[in-house]
Amino acid sequence: MGAEMDLSVRIGALTLKNPLIAASGCFGYGVEYADLVDLASLGGVAVKGLFLAEREGHPSPRIVETPAGMLNAIGLQGIGVRRFIFEKLPELRARRATVIVNICGSTLDEYVEISRILSDAEGVAAIELNISCPNIKEGGMQFGCSLTGTFDVVSAVRKVTRLPLIPKLTPNVTDVASFARASADAGADAVSLVNTFLAMAIDVETRRPKISNVVGGLSGPAIRPIAVRMVYECRQAVKIPIIGMGGITDARDAIEFMIAGATAVQVGTANFVDPFIWPKLIDGISDYMRRHQIARVADLVGTLDTAAGDKEWTAS
Ligand SMILES: Cc1cc2nc3c(=O)[nH]c(=O)nc-3n(C[C@H](O)[C@H](O)[C@H](O)COP(=O)(O)O)c2cc1C
Repeated sequence: MGAEMDLSVRIGALTLKNPLIAASGCFGYGVEYADLVDLASLGGVAVKGLFLAEREGHPSPRIVETPAGMLNAIGLQGIGVRRFIFEKLPELRARRATVIVNICGSTLDEYVEISRILSDAEGVAAIELNISCPNIKEGGMQFGCSLTGTFDVVSAVRKVTRLPLIPKLTPNVTDVASFARASADAGADAVSLVNTFLAMAIDVETRRPKISNVVGGLSGPAIRPIAVRMVYECRQAVKIPIIGMGGITDARDAIEFMIAGATAVQVGTANFVDPFIWPKLIDGISDYMRRHQIARVADLVGTLDTAAGDKEWTAS
């Protein structure tokens, strides 16, 4: 097996070359990495979250390393959707990147307006609706933590765009699957999960919080088993594709998410550790497919064999 191996996956009407997407906020606007990574070799690039207007974000310190992860409260610093379209999108198009635009809104109308503007732009492959940023008051969590809020914002955006629509879910809820269901009911083409977990870290010598916003979002390997469980739960609840993320550092981690039910995956924090990770991830997935005689990577999705687990569960 080799030449005939198929790494492509489908997210609604969108076909990705492979299941690997750079996660929002961890890959700039894509163009910053263009000299290090062949953007066209990625399944997609999810750009930093955009509001309608420019934003400065929180004062520093905004990130701190934690055991097996990092805490951030950037505060959604960004250049705004119009500058993105004029200053970044042309180069992303020239580099043949599959561009997923992550958007944020303080109000439902702001999500709608940004989506309308993006729908008229050339070169946007999909919209990822960030309704899950834990780091700012008006960062979408007010929508993402309420089932009606989720349904309302997804339905409203659905009415103004034909672009594939991917609400990004927060893990800071008790039953994430119900939010996947609300998204699907409102017309989402897929859901992505997870955003970061609300967390904090304190310098015990000074008794001060380690980041200026006091609380922030935890990412990296520390969150991976919880994220995998959440993807698995959503897979039971909805038929639309799931894009999984949270602590992926190598091909095996990516494959774990796919077996749990993710059609594609995003990689965030690991890109800060090793920006050259992408070809290694692609080679690692190809190698796994060869060893397991899997011709189409899409055939891996949701193939968890629970038989042994079930037996253990009933035996105890
Ligand atoms: C520094 C930083 C900035 C982030 N900014 C965004 C953002 O703008 N929009 C968004 O939806 N998620 C954002 N995230 C969340 C990531 O896209 C991802 O959901 C999360 O970090 C889990 O994946 P990981 O463990 O691979 O990093 C950010 C994460 C980090 C670490």
